[in-house]
Amino acid sequence: MGTEVVTDELAARHREAFTQRYGSAAGGSGAVRCFYAPGRVNLMGAHLDYNGGPVLPMAIDRGTFVALRARTDRTIRLATTSSDETCELDLDHPPAASSDRWSDYPVGVVVGLLERAEGRPGLDVLFGGNLPVGAGLSSSASICVATAWALDAVWELGLQPMQIVDVALRAEREFVGVQCGIMDPYAVGLARPGHLLWLDCRDTSWSHLPLEPGTSVAVADTGVRRELARGEFNLRVAQCGEAFEQLRVHAPEATCLREVPLDVLEAEGHALDPVARARARHVLEEVQRTFEARAALLAGDVASFGRRMLDAHDSLRDLFEVSVPELDRLVDTARETPGVHGARLTGAGFGGCTVNVLESAAESEFEQRLVRDFEAAFGRRPRVEFFEGDPGPRETP
Ligand code: GLA
Repeated sequence: MGTEVVTDELAARHREAFTQRYGSAAGGSGAVRCFYAPGRVNLMGAHLDYNGGPVLPMAIDRGTFVALRARTDRTIRLATTSSDETCELDLDHPPAASSDRWSDYPVGVVVGLLERAEGRPGLDVLFGGNLPVGAGLSSSASICVATAWALDAVWELGLQPMQIVDVALRAEREFVGVQCGIMDPYAVGLARPGHLLWLDCRDTSWSHLPLEPGTSVAVADTGVRRELARGEFNLRVAQCGEAFEQLRVHAPEATCLREVPLDVLEAEGHALDPVARARARHVLEEVQRTFEARAALLAGDVASFGRRMLDAHDSLRDLFEVSVPELDRLVDTARETPGVHGARLTGAGFGGCTVNVLESAAESEFEQRLVRDFEAAFGRRPRVEFFEGDPGPRETP
């Protein structure tokens, strides 16, 4: 398990932090309630969600806590344990645009729920948790789903889990303005312990796939955080869109890049800009790999699943160009470690973490090797953790 798992103790500490921040009752009209939503890793299907492809994420037991208490007016105050930057909004005069601050995510959720929140009270809210920001573990979906889950409960809106997922997704896309795909809020909102989520982003059909017993999922964090990641991510979305526009002429039935046959790319790709061609190749081959990986998992063949992960990393490095030397190093070490089936970068890339699938018996050797080798190369230790899959969003005691 991770060094710091989600426990009642963390939730209790978060409640204490709430009381320190807002006082025991000042301005409040009710009890403090606390909610939690996990982060996620993606094992297969990198950069496929916004191309209509399949993905295979798993929720991890690191995530976001939201403690909140109703007020007697219509003001919402948002604060976080990780910075002094706070935000205040009036439910009757909500902001029309984002402000480039962490609070855009929960504000986007509030704005998305306003029509349903008529007559509901304002709130004092404190965010916290143990999910690193910008590490590719979906801290943004975690904060959005946690916020929507909490508001639904406290305002008694009666939303279904899928509606909560949808509110979280729209907050990020429409309010914050990231052209993200659907994977992250689904992975967080539909989490099931010990399972991966199989999600087909073309029609949003999904199911849970169990992880083979005796298999561990490890996350290794390079510590690299890229300020430019959002711009680079949006650029990849645009490049894939450009490739699709040009290729669809030769595949008139295709409704998204995922549906363009690979042989159309082989035959017609020469007319594309080389960068767009490489992006499209990654997408179409990754679609195939992800289906193969799913078949391998269903057949209990974890070694074959792992090989698809390694191929995916090579493709992300060479064709999609979203890796960095620190990620490549972690994957190369994992590749050479006995008992490790597969490794690749997770999330959008440009830094952040690798995800690894290995025999549980190899955990300690794996961790030692990764730390030793990475430290020799970069002079600092990567954080390595093992996860079993989180049960998903919930109210904590
Ligand atoms: C980011 C986005 C996701 C997905 C991944 C890449 O995490 O938020 O929607 O596109 O990158 O697979």
